[in-house]
Amino acid sequence: MTFKALSGAMVAALLATTALPVSAKEFRVAVGDGAGGTQEALGLAFVEALEAKTGGAHSAKLFLNGQLGDEQDTVTAAATGTLDFSILAINNITPFSPSVGTLTLPYVILSLEDAENITQGEIGQQMVDKTVEDAGVRIIGWAYSGFRVLTNSKHPVTTVADLQDLVVRVPKNEIMIETYKSWGIDPTPMAWGETFAALQQKVVDGQDNPYMTVYAMKFDEVQKYVTNIRYIFSIEPLIVSESLFQSLSAEEQQQVLDAGHEATLASGAFLRAEEAKIKAELAARGMEISDPADGEQEFIDLATAKVWPKFYDTIGGKEVLNGVLTALDRPTV
Ligand code: MLT
Repeated sequence: MTFKALSGAMVAALLATTALPVSAKEFRVAVGDGAGGTQEALGLAFVEALEAKTGGAHSAKLFLNGQLGDEQDTVTAAATGTLDFSILAINNITPFSPSVGTLTLPYVILSLEDAENITQGEIGQQMVDKTVEDAGVRIIGWAYSGFRVLTNSKHPVTTVADLQDLVVRVPKNEIMIETYKSWGIDPTPMAWGETFAALQQKVVDGQDNPYMTVYAMKFDEVQKYVTNIRYIFSIEPLIVSESLFQSLSAEEQQQVLDAGHEATLASGAFLRAEEAKIKAELAARGMEISDPADGEQEFIDLATAKVWPKFYDTIGGKEVLNGVLTALDRPTV
């Protein structure tokens, strides 16, 4: 039967069928941390913006506390297209895309403003492109979580000497492992999902993560002492599976990117509004907070002298670090 031969009613019915909107899709977003932290805040802001920009055609659901897999595993899942989105700490992307390692080199990012300048500028875009190429995932948003402070269950730490009897958990990240080695101890690399239990069972004495994460993960229940070291400012990207991204129309891609950008801006505002309150809450719950002695100089000198040169090749050359330092108006190496 030709189109011409169809009755008016049949044509109307056919047109109505083909004109139906694309069915609404709910994406799955893996979130490494628990409720109340910067990862959840970024995720919620993203979901809200995505729903608004797509007029409800697309939405997303957050799965907190590593329900969809450990952070590093979610990168592989997104790359192979079995997961849509993930929010995870940058240090857990570095093993798949070494160029973002510049952001985990100790004492490179020294403030929230530094983090925002780099991630939202030209260098951030270069990192996005490189991560697509290296890891098959696209960074579409950035959560800012604050400095990774050191926590432990044994005693206050203010000097490098105080660290020496501690067993400290670190992510499976070579730069962080080498940083603790520069301070004279052999840390214990461990997946994020195993960390709470390891602290609770005293398999390890301590770990480092931002105040917001310590709070979201309830580490105050198993850790007593906090040291305000500032070696890494934690940046926690929202990634999308590149194969999913490429399957979207140009308009949908733009909606996803715009929603990610809005969530990024919301994340900076969230940290500014919440970090001091969370720190005070953790102190009220009994955590004892100290500053490193001598303005942290001993930690800084050891880490920058010993760790930076070891990773020039991995991050794509010394000039990559110098590009970041120049963008931050700091002396190059
Ligand atoms: C880690 O220590 O593995 C990460 O910082 C965890 C996180 O995403 O908060």
